[in-house]
Amino acid sequence: VFDEVCETTGVTFTRFMAEVAMLNPELSELTTLFGAIDTSCKAIADIVKRSQLPSSETLGLEGEVNVQGEDQKKLDVITNDLLKRALRFTGKLGVLASEEEDEPVDLVSSGNADDKLTSTWDNKDLVVEDTGKYVCVFDPLDGSSNVDAGIPTGTIIGIYEHDENCEVDESIETEDEAMANCLANTLQPGTKLVAGAYCLYSSSTFLVLTLGNGVYMFTLDDTIGEFVLSHPNVKIPESSKIYSFNEANIEKWDAPMKETVYKWRQGTGRSGERYSSRYIGSMVGDVHRTLLYGGVFGYPGDTKNPNGKLRLLYEGAPMSFIMEQAGGLSTTGTKRVMEIVPEQVHQRVPIVMGSKNDIQEVIDAYAAAG
Ligand code: AHG
Ligand code: MN
Ligand code: MN
Ligand code: MN
Repeated sequence: VFDEVCETTGVTFTRFMAEVAMLNPELSELTTLFGAIDTSCKAIADIVKRSQLPSSETLGLEGEVNVQGEDQKKLDVITNDLLKRALRFTGKLGVLASEEEDEPVDLVSSGNADDKLTSTWDNKDLVVEDTGKYVCVFDPLDGSSNVDAGIPTGTIIGIYEHDENCEVDESIETEDEAMANCLANTLQPGTKLVAGAYCLYSSSTFLVLTLGNGVYMFTLDDTIGEFVLSHPNVKIPESSKIYSFNEANIEKWDAPMKETVYKWRQGTGRSGERYSSRYIGSMVGDVHRTLLYGGVFGYPGDTKNPNGKLRLLYEGAPMSFIMEQAGGLSTTGTKRVMEIVPEQVHQRVPIVMGSKNDIQEVIDAYAAAG
């Protein structure tokens, strides 16, 4: 199915998804969602690029602290609203969760984009009706603390199907019951993802996705305003000589993780190679380089934050899905990240992902430590 599609580099994302839908009719609603994602990423790329101009109103801090306890950037809010609207108006979405939303939101839309929305985000007046087929989780602007310095940022998206054992039932009266209902719809492990995607806003704008059958990388061609397939079926090199961590925390890491990085620094690890360090502090940028050049990206747990910093639902799981589909691995050190069932929407997860042989070395170090 996918082979016929992925051979033709240069094919536009729109055409690629149309062919996926033609060859897989059950995915046709998913391709509608990706139409909204395609447009949103182009819009965000433009907003980020123009955000530093003197005339721009989108510079700097929003003046709010989000549920993560982070100072929200204006662009965190702008990109979050943009994605929420674009996804919601497809009518294909039942529930969404975002880094910038305190709790998951059960969407209301009759499926026609021009229909008046019967609930508004502000007063969270949830009139729970029958909802779309999909659940979407996203980080609208990853690495946003970097954006005012022009360092690459990204958007991360995961898509699940509505969890069948949590159908919206008409008896739901109160908002918190509706919340509990939709919460169950968002808290699924990465193994249940039907799609994982990210957009990287950098020297080029890249849209990278997996539907569970390989990883496809598209590059935005500004001349025609379309993402075009540039790297069909991405496979991460099995070994590497690059590691990517915030090493300021290294003294606080778990011993197996710390020892392994010490060895990679000294060239006394499994490959005998002396590694170099590359870290930009934007997960999407660091993972994208890791996918293409090989390497290990991670944010391990440490004595201060045993679960590290990255959020499982909309950073760890979708990026692990892409990494595994590209032939890499993604672990907490002792568990496959994609198998972790979230308990809270914004829970964090210690994560190390990348080239198979290097990650295996980390897994073995944890196993040896017992
Ligand atoms: P976000 O901007 O979406 O909150 O995510 C930031 C994350 C991730 O992008 C990056 O890998 C990590 O924070 C960097 O953390 P440190 O600054 O602690 O290294
Ligand atoms: Mn943030
Ligand atoms: Mn992030
Ligand atoms: Mn973010």
